[in-house]
Amino acid sequence: MRQSSLVVVANRLPLDDSAAPDGACEWRRSPGGLASALHAILQQTPATWVGWAGGVGTAPTLPDIGSLRLRPMALSEQELRGYYEGFANSTLWPLYHDAVEQPIFHRGWWETYRDVNRRFAEHAAEVVEPGGVLWVQDYHLQLVPDLLRRLRPDVLIGFFLHVPFPPPELFMQLPRRNELLRGMLGADLVGFQRPQAAHNVAQLAVKLLGARVTANDQITLDGRTVRTGAFPVSIDVAEMQALAARPDVRDRAQQLRADLGRPRRVLLSVDRLDYTKGIEHRLTAYSELLHDGRVKVRDTVMVQVTVPSRERVENYRVLRDRIEGEVGRINGEYGRVGEPAIHYLNQPFDRAELAALYQTADVMVVTPLRDGMNLVAKEYVAARADASGALVLSEFTGCAAELPDAFLVNPHDVDGLKETLLRAMEADPADLERRMAAMRAHLSSHDIVTWARAYLTSLDRTGRVAARLRR
Ligand code: G6P
Repeated sequence: MRQSSLVVVANRLPLDDSAAPDGACEWRRSPGGLASALHAILQQTPATWVGWAGGVGTAPTLPDIGSLRLRPMALSEQELRGYYEGFANSTLWPLYHDAVEQPIFHRGWWETYRDVNRRFAEHAAEVVEPGGVLWVQDYHLQLVPDLLRRLRPDVLIGFFLHVPFPPPELFMQLPRRNELLRGMLGADLVGFQRPQAAHNVAQLAVKLLGARVTANDQITLDGRTVRTGAFPVSIDVAEMQALAARPDVRDRAQQLRADLGRPRRVLLSVDRLDYTKGIEHRLTAYSELLHDGRVKVRDTVMVQVTVPSRERVENYRVLRDRIEGEVGRINGEYGRVGEPAIHYLNQPFDRAELAALYQTADVMVVTPLRDGMNLVAKEYVAARADASGALVLSEFTGCAAELPDAFLVNPHDVDGLKETLLRAMEADPADLERRMAAMRAHLSSHDIVTWARAYLTSLDRTGRVAARLRR
C-alpha cells in the first residue's frame, strides 16, 4: 500500500455519493464545514484522506483529487446506525451542543463506535509513512488518536475538534467519559475552535484521569505531555471572492432579486437542517415582526435555505416537519398570491448559486443556538466585495469572537432577536460599510490556509508539513 507523509482521517471524505434521479450514482461535494474547509487546503497537497464516502456496503473506488489520495472506508448498515447516526449524532452531537436536544445513551451504539474507530485507526496506520503526520478530525473519531499511538508510536498525531467541547458538568453525563477523554488525549496536539474548550478538557483530565495541567492548559498524562490550543477554522476566502466576482454570478444575483419581486430588503439564512441552528427561534421572531406590522411582506422578503442533513435520524425528521409546518403557517397567514413571506428551499446548493444568494441578501441571519464556528457567516462576508450588507450573528457561534462588528444577538431571546433584526435592517449604510470592512479585513488575514498552517506548525514545531500546503 502506498504511504503518505500527511494523512487526514475524518468521518467524511470530501465527496459524497448521492443517487441521481435516474438511480445512477452521482458524486457531489460533502455537506458541512469540515469537508469544505479541508477540501480547500488539501486538494493540491500530497496527502491521503481516509474517510467515508456516504452510503452503505462496499467502499467505492475514488479517483485522486490532484495530488490528494482518497481512501474510502466502508460502513455496514449496522455501523451506520450505531456509529454515525447513533453514538456520533444522537449521543455526542447533542451533548456537545449544550444538550439543546436530549442526548441518547445507548450501550450498543458505544460498542459500534469503538469498533469503527478501531477500523479507521488501523487503516490510517497502514497509509502513513514512517515519521509522518496523522491528523484526526472531529467527534466521530475521538478514540482514534489513542488507538493510533499504540499502532504507530513513530508518527506525530494531531486531533482537531470542529464542534464545541461542552462544559465539564455536561461531559460528565457521558457513560464512557473516561475512554472518550483518554482517546482524544492520545494526540500530541489537541486543537479546538475556542480557548474555553481547551480549558474544559484540561479540567476534566485532572478530575477524571488524574492528569497534571499547567496554567495554559497543557496536560501531562502517563508521563507524556499533550499540548492543547485554539485554532479557529476558516474558509477559502479567495474561492468565495472569485465566485462572487464572476459575471454570471453577478447576473444571477440580479435575477434572484427580480424573481423575489425587487423588495426593499432581502433577509437570508443558510443552514444544514439541524436543531442546533436555531431555525425555529428565527422563524418565531420573523413571524412576530410580521404580526406586529413592523415588517411588511411586499417590502421585505426572507429566504431560508436548509440543506438536508442526517435525514434518517428521528430528531432531524421531526425538526423538518416542524419547520415546514411553521413556514406553511407563516406563508398562509402573511403571504399574498405570488408573494410568500418566506421562500423556503430544502435542497443542496451549488457554490455559485450560494455566492449569488449572498450577494442578493441585504441582511444575513446566522442565529445558531450553539455552533463550533459557522462558516456560512464567513462566506457571506467574503462575498460582499462592495462592503455592503449586514450580518446578524449569534453570540453562541465560534465566529462571534472573531467578528465583533456583526450585529451580535442571543437567539434564545426572541424580543432581542426581533430588535436586532430591525436594527440591522434599518442601519445607516455608512455604519454597515464600516462594520463589513472590518470583518473583511479580519477574514483576509485569517483564511483556511492560515488555519491549517497555524495548526500544523504548532503540531510539528518546524513548519515542515505546513510548507507543503497550497498557497
Ligand atoms: C458538522 C461536523 C462535521 C460534519 C458536518 C456535516 O460541521 O462538525 O464533522 O461533517 O457537520 O454533517 P454530516 O453528518 O453530514 O457529515
